[in-house]
Formats: sequence, C-alpha cells, structure tokens
Amino acid sequence: MLTGSDFNAVRQLVRQRAGIALGDDKRYLVETRLRPVLREFGVTTVADLLRKMNAGCREIADRIVEALTTNETLFFRDARPFEVLRTVVLPELLRKRAAERRLNIWCAAASTGQEPYSIAMLIREHFPQLLQWNLKILATDISTAALAVAREGLYSQLEVNRGLPAPLLVKYFSKEGNRWRLDRRVREMVEFRVLNLVGPWPPLPPMDIVFLRNVLIYFDAPTKQRILSRMRTVLRPDGYLFLGSAETTLHLDDSFEPLGIPRSCCYRPKAVSRRPAVVGS
Ligand SMILES: C[S@@+](CC[C@H](N)C(=O)[O-])C[C@H]1O[C@@H](n2cnc3c(N)ncnc32)[C@H](O)[C@@H]1O
Repeated sequence: MLTGSDFNAVRQLVRQRAGIALGDDKRYLVETRLRPVLREFGVTTVADLLRKMNAGCREIADRIVEALTTNETLFFRDARPFEVLRTVVLPELLRKRAAERRLNIWCAAASTGQEPYSIAMLIREHFPQLLQWNLKILATDISTAALAVAREGLYSQLEVNRGLPAPLLVKYFSKEGNRWRLDRRVREMVEFRVLNLVGPWPPLPPMDIVFLRNVLIYFDAPTKQRILSRMRTVLRPDGYLFLGSAETTLHLDDSFEPLGIPRSCCYRPKAVSRRPAVVGS
C-alpha cells in the first residue's frame, strides 16, 4: 500500500534527479514499478524502502529513478523520420560536410539501443562512404540498465519483430539461443554513455544531428525549455533535431523551426536573422 506522502516523496525524488514529472494519476504506476525494487532491497513497503534510502543506502535512489523511467522503444520507430534522415538530411549533410568529412550524431535518450542501431544500419545500407569519414554516433541515456542491454546488442524475437525489416535482420543479426545478436561491426559504430539530460552535460562535440525522441514528454514545460536551449548550444547552426511524434519545439523554443516535411518530426535552428527579437533587448 502506497501512502500519499510516500507517493509524493517518490515523485519529488524522480523529478529532482531525472526531471520526470509524474502526475497524480501515476500512483498505480509507481506502486507496480517499485515492487521489484522492494524485493531487491528486502523490504515490503515503499515507506521502508525510503527509510532505508534515507539511512544511507544511496543506491536505492538510483534504482527508484531507474524503475520509473519508461524505456519503450523499437527499431526504426515511426519510420518517417528515418525516411527523412535517408532522403533529405543525410544527403544534404554529406554535401555540406564533404570537405571536413566529419559527422556527429547524438541519440540523447537511446534506451536499449534500437534507435542508434537503426541509424547505424541505415548508414551502412545507404551511405557506406560515411564509414570512411570521422563518423561518431553517441548514444546516451540516464538508465544504466537500458544502456547495458544496448551495449550487448542482444534482442528477443519480439524486439526484432518490432520495426526491423526482415532483410536487415538476416543481414545484421545472428541467432544466439532464442535471441538475436547484432553484428559487432554495427555495435562498434555506436558509443554508449550515461548522460542525465537534466544534470550537467560533459563536453560534447558540435552535433550535426540530434535524436531527442520520446523523452521530452516526461518533463514539465520549463524543463523542456531548458533542455531545448542547451541542445541549441550543442547543435550546429545548420544541424537537425528530431523529436518524437507527440513532441514539438513550438511554444517552447522559438529559435527552432520545423523542417516543413509532414510527420518528419524534424526541426532546425532558425537563422539568427529570422528569430523573433527579444523584447527589451
Ligand atoms: C520512451 S524511451 C525513448 C527511446 C527512444 N528515443 C525512442 O524514441 O524509441 C525514453 C528514454 O528516456 C530516458 N530518460 C528519461 N529521463 C531521462 C533523463 N533525465 N536524461 C536522459 N535520459 C532520460 C529513459 O531512461 C528512456 O530510456
């Protein structure tokens, strides 16, 4: 049984540490997601879990946050953004970066790896010349457990059935028991690192493409604004930002504009001359 004050204590912890805003209707979710954590730490109630945490077991805070992140993902999620990446974004960047031969891509909420690996496979299939460039695909997430799965690159039948075209399964995966292991060459294209979007960011190279998909939905408006404004400092002025289909920069950050391709969920920084003037400046 989760009391109101324990529910609030958990909500506060998760908001402070990960920016995740859990509404009043998420009590049941908290209760069910914390059940395995209670078992792991040998307690029977959330009150006991919080007591143990406050008595000095700091690991519990990480496990609570971990349990309350939603890691739902799939290969080539929503299809359309990947089509736009293949037909518009990458061809243009290939042209623009031909002299420097360097391309940086960041998946900023990579979960169990399906998203960055989809990008890596797409590049191998359609832009193999990029493999001779200085190409970096950085994949980050707050969840160490999700990143551990991502690094392994080992997926269940159900996971490879979701979004992965059969020819890519045949070409890039091999059966290991009843699971599928992604080819080492694709795994090695992606660097996985823990990064909390609401915490301090390590120094990052200027990014050409950022995938920030299906994570802003968990944050309140000021947190979304802060993250978008930090993204702008990391993204090159002619770079591209992909959001999830239920997310937008509109009414949050006027310095981005949609690419104008329906359902692409793709945005780019507005040229400084087209940004609205700040009143009083
Ligand atoms: C629903 S998944 C989205 C995965 C992938 N981007 C996609 O669209 O399929 C959301 C991910 O955001 C991560 N996340 C939540 N809060 C975060 C934070 N503060 N910093 C970094 N990642 C966070 C979660 O751990 C989870 O893996």
